[in-house]
Amino acid sequence: MSKIIRFAKFVKDIKKTRDFPRVVNYDITSRCNLKCEHCYWHKTNEAHEDLPDEIWLKTFKDHVKRGANAAYLTGGEPTLKPKLIEAADKIFPEMAIVSNGINQISKSIQRRIMISIDGPKEIHNKIRGLDIFDKVVGNIKNDKRVILTPTLSTTNYKYIEDLVRIARESGVDGITFSTYTSHQGIDDPYYLSGEKLDWTIKELLRVYRENKDIVFMTPKIIKSWRDKNYYRKCYFKSSGFVAYDANLKIKKPCTLGAKVKCETCGCIVPVFASALKKMDLKSWFLLDKFFPSEYSKNF
Ligand SMILES: C[S@@+](CC[C@H](N)C(=O)[O-])C[C@H]1O[C@@H](n2cnc3c(N)ncnc32)[C@H](O)[C@@H]1O
Repeated sequence: MSKIIRFAKFVKDIKKTRDFPRVVNYDITSRCNLKCEHCYWHKTNEAHEDLPDEIWLKTFKDHVKRGANAAYLTGGEPTLKPKLIEAADKIFPEMAIVSNGINQISKSIQRRIMISIDGPKEIHNKIRGLDIFDKVVGNIKNDKRVILTPTLSTTNYKYIEDLVRIARESGVDGITFSTYTSHQGIDDPYYLSGEKLDWTIKELLRVYRENKDIVFMTPKIIKSWRDKNYYRKCYFKSSGFVAYDANLKIKKPCTLGAKVKCETCGCIVPVFASALKKMDLKSWFLLDKFFPSEYSKNF
């Protein structure tokens, strides 16, 4: 019953007209402790100096007052600013942290944590450019706040099943996938298209069917990567979502920066939003698994 009430409230809430986006993505730092082979951030980041925490906190409070409800703290590597994460935890009703998992996040932060693991040890270390796999897997052991969030590219698309096994063996809550989005276009060597994309979709559908308890995807979401229609109605374009860089400059059209080729978008955000808009019930139920009520706060 509580799930139905939460669902109804959510539908009402996203339909509300507001003068400020409901979901905000913040690059809370202009620093990162990795240089990953596929990462948009190193290609697009224009922010240099980190802002003092007081400016962030004032901004967070102002945004919540104006209607922001959910914050994604990312970067760069957000765990380089642990005090800011702790302070943000006391401001946003909904919050999630997107991290590479090298640093642990205090257990006092009872929020969803998305950890980027991109493959089994050798592949992950190759993509991430450092020998960090064992450390990350050790850090997330049995942490139910965690969902693994691999980005599938031509480097790692063959390792979907291994990634699900890693999620299961590390005892995290689940795993969801994005596909690589390009700043170059369809000729980008990391971009999944043609037979490789078809194979990825087929493999994800198979692995999903065998691991529904842990794979946080739905057939509708997976299949939508085929025609990519969702990018036209992305919430970042319709002002439902907004992204700020580490100097609090708005990034357009989205977190991936100005030169992103939207037609190559494989981001889970518009994919998921599009399935919700089409009233795909499986995706609605999945939303509750992604963001269970125990990670929401009323202030
Ligand atoms: C930019 S990182 C920032 C947070 C953190 N440092 C981390 O590694 O998760 C956020 C996520 O974006 C993903 N990402 C980077 N470049 C991408 C691209 N071109 N297309 C899709 N996802 C990308 C990363 O793999 C990571 O999961």
